[in-house]
Amino acid sequence: MTSILSNPDRRKVDASDDTKFYRSPRFVTHADDPFLARLTQLYASVVDPGDRVFDAMGSWRSFLPEHEFDRVVGHGLNEAELEANDSLDEWFRQDFNSDQSLPLETDSFDMVCCALSVQYLQYPARLFSEFDRVLDDGGAVVVSFTNRMFPTKAVRAWRKRTMDDRAALVERYLAAGGLSSTRRVTEQPGSDPFYAVVGRAR
Ligand SMILES: C[S@@+](CC[C@H](N)C(=O)[O-])C[C@H]1O[C@@H](n2cnc3c(N)ncnc32)[C@H](O)[C@@H]1O
Repeated sequence: MTSILSNPDRRKVDASDDTKFYRSPRFVTHADDPFLARLTQLYASVVDPGDRVFDAMGSWRSFLPEHEFDRVVGHGLNEAELEANDSLDEWFRQDFNSDQSLPLETDSFDMVCCALSVQYLQYPARLFSEFDRVLDDGGAVVVSFTNRMFPTKAVRAWRKRTMDDRAALVERYLAAGGLSSTRRVTEQPGSDPFYAVVGRAR
């Protein structure tokens, strides 16, 4: 598999275990309301009622449209946040910087979401290849981000890049995982810039 990040690129200022950083719940949002509304709108353009959704790197809200989904599986690092997320039918915790193998069946989702979190991944190619595996034919990955982050926990490759270069980096993550990039969205709905890349399982 293509390695996208060199060892220096995947360094974090705080190299301690990520699970410690997320031990206490944060019932906050990580972008402003116009950003989050735009995210819901983007998801609505990608999923249909009855679809199966995997919300990777999640927390207490998933920002999904008000559809009846067949199944919504969540993932994150904090139990209290995931327990409080009403969108989820089930969830699991896993440190993706220790283990990138997803405990999910092949071809079992129509959309994978990764909101406001991709900057924390040290082994993105392996994880995106798992996103590709769990997606059904033609399924979509939606990766969204803004210019905010926990800087001590973001990889160096992210910290040193401009916003447009970050979008290009996410497109490389998709390609390394075997997904195609079908759409890049860059908008300014409110104070926080809205960036998203949509990929598709081939
Ligand atoms: C800024 S929050 C975003 C949460 C949610 N997606 C949202 O939009 O509100 C970053 C999230 O990334 C996830 N995360 C960070 N480091 C991680 C790691 N090493 N392994 C798995 N997930 C991680 C955690 O679930 C954390 O809640």
